[in-house]
This record gives sequence, structure tokens and C-alpha cells, in this order.
Amino acid sequence: MINVAVLGFGVVGSGVVELIEKNAETINKGLKEQIKVKKILDIRDFEGHKYQDLFTKDFDEILNDDEISIVIETIGGKEPARTFTEKALKKGKSVVTSNKELVAAFGSELMVTAKENNSYYMFEASVGGAIPVLRPLGTCLAANNITDIWGILNGTTNYILTRMFEGGASFEDALKEAQQKGYAERDPSADVEGHDTMRKIAILMAIASGYETNCDKIMTEGITSIKQEDVKILDKAGYAIRLIGHGKVCDKKVFARVSPMVISKNHPLAGVKDVFNAVMVMGDATDEVMFYGKGAGKFPTASAVVADVIDIAKFNGNPPKYSWEKPDADMMIDIEDTSSMFYVRATGITKQDFDVLEIISEQNGEIAFITSEMNEKAFIAAKKQLELKGAEFKAVIRKLL
Ligand code: HSE
Repeated sequence: MINVAVLGFGVVGSGVVELIEKNAETINKGLKEQIKVKKILDIRDFEGHKYQDLFTKDFDEILNDDEISIVIETIGGKEPARTFTEKALKKGKSVVTSNKELVAAFGSELMVTAKENNSYYMFEASVGGAIPVLRPLGTCLAANNITDIWGILNGTTNYILTRMFEGGASFEDALKEAQQKGYAERDPSADVEGHDTMRKIAILMAIASGYETNCDKIMTEGITSIKQEDVKILDKAGYAIRLIGHGKVCDKKVFARVSPMVISKNHPLAGVKDVFNAVMVMGDATDEVMFYGKGAGKFPTASAVVADVIDIAKFNGNPPKYSWEKPDADMMIDIEDTSSMFYVRATGITKQDFDVLEIISEQNGEIAFITSEMNEKAFIAAKKQLELKGAEFKAVIRKLL
């Protein structure tokens, strides 16, 4: 028997326990020993629950149980998840997680701890929910120099943006729906402010570059300032908005940014709707490769978690893996040194004030247009100058090149 313990019986944790039971035949096919959930850690009471005999509130019961070889951490956040993970790894137990916050911040250290203790730290579920992307990126695409990654990496914001464009829903109503469906984080500001996407692009770029990506250096902008006025103008002109995590490897340096982006409805990423995520990877040998699937939710995420457990069981303690190291020096490119195209809606400016590629609307003294590609620093300086002369910028959204 391969005994596992699940830490945290929330949306993902309960999905893992139920999936291991529901798909037992498929999951255990080809394994020498069957996977069994022996304990579930949660601070809440589960009197009368179907799994009531499995619950404990004491982590040490799991830590000191030598029959438990794999710990599944679905608590989320930094603490106590980090302490529990470290302790389990040091005891020689492998840890599987969906916790992107922990992986992005402490993945490097935890992978070293795992290696030192002949255990494994696996986290396929931390990016893209159901989508197999970390393993393919680290193994199947290993012959490539990855130059760019563009990802729709947050189901909640993608659901909100889709509902705002296609159902005319307000931001607040769409967020409530995403919460009811179990997509949103406990504190949904991590979704709508872009921090969840930031952690996921950091993980993807760490695998792509081989080095830890410093989250503090990732410029992060969420979707809270997207207005219905812009949704209507852009929709009519054949554009959509998606929250994009973009990473770039350039001369061994890395750039990463999270921001809403205007994209043509003909672009493959515009077809990614509702809770779906997509990751587009540019490799120097492959050209574009795209991964697509449900990025959040109980069973889609549980699917990736349980697959990691199966890999640990199947490959006899040597599963296919992906990793990265801490860099010796800062590898991050400053956002100001990068360039973008910009969608601008403003009053008090004319099309001559920027190198305008396309005018999208012009009415009642207000103009909306898309600029040609320009340096971020130059754009900010031009905006400031125009504001001093009385211009009012009502919306600025980057456009996908
Ligand atoms: N809150 C996250 C999302 C969950 O909406 O994508 C999956 O990481």
C-alpha cells in the first residue's frame, strides 16, 4: 500500500481524496501497490462526514507515521504550508502540491531539501490546473531555448473578463460567480490583482530559464481597473482583453510581466474563455507550442495533483521532474527597458501626440487608439507631459504584439 496524507480539505484537497476513490481502478493500474489516503489534516470538525475516521488536527500524527510516504499539501499560502512541507521532506516523505505561492517563493530551497533527503517535491498542479505544462516544458521541450511564454494563467480573471465581454456582466457579479464555482482564491484579491498569475509565470520562467525568477521584480497589474466603456469600444472593434503573464528570456536575462492585454479576437489566446487557461511557449526549435485546459476547479486541479502522486509511485522514487537553481546574480530585466504597444482612451490629446497605428473610436472629444510599439519609459514620460497640459487618460492597456 502507498499511504498518502492530504493537508487541507478545501476545494482541491477534497477533490484529491474523492478522485483517488472514484478513479481507483485507473489510478492504480500498473502500480505494484495501491494508493490509499490514510490521513487528512484540517483544523475544522467533520463529524458524520464520509471520511470522518481519516481526519486529524495534529500534523505530527502524519509526520511520525512511517507508513505515510507521500504528503499532499493543498493548504495554500506560505504558512503553515512551508513548515509542514519542510518537515515532511526532511523525514524522507515526498510532497506533492498545488500551492503556487509556496513554489514560486521557496521552490528552489524545497527542491534542495527534497534532494538531500531522497524525497521529491512535485507541483504540476501549481500552474494551469488540469493542463500538463510544467513536465512537458521541463522535459519534452528540453532541446529548445525557450524565448517567450505567454499565459492565461488565472481561471477567475479569465472567467470575469469573458462574462464582462460576452454577458455584459459587471466585474462584481462575475467575481461572485467565479467564487461560487470554487475558482477564486480564499482572498480573491490575489486573482484580480494579478498576484496568482505572477506566481505562475515565475514558476514557468524558472523552468524555462533554469533559474529562480524573482517575484518582486515582476511588474504586476490586475484587472480591477478594466471599465465597461473600454470593453464595449474594444469588443466593437474586434478586440478582447485577457490577463496575460508574459515572460521572455533575452541574453540569459529574464523579463516577466503580468498585465491585462488587448488582443485581436483572431489571436488563439482570445479563444480561451471562462475558466480555461492556456500557455503559449515559443521555442527556438519548435516555434509556437500551445497548452490548453481548465485552469482551476476541484477535479481539474486534483487531476494534476494525483498524477504527480502516480508518477512518484510508478517511477519507483525517480519520477520525471523539472527543477531550477538560485541565480548567482540578478537576472531580471527592468520593465522600463522593455517596449509595448498601448491601447489609450483619453481626452485632451490628439492622434499626433503618439505614433498611432489604429484609431478605435473618436467621440465627444474623447479618442481611443492603439500606438505602435514604444519603450515603456518613453510612454510614461509622454503621458506625464500630456497630463501636465490637461490631458486625461481614462484607460491605458498594453496590447499584445
Ligand atoms: N484562483 C486560481 C484561479 C486557482 O482562478 O486560477 C487555480 O490556481
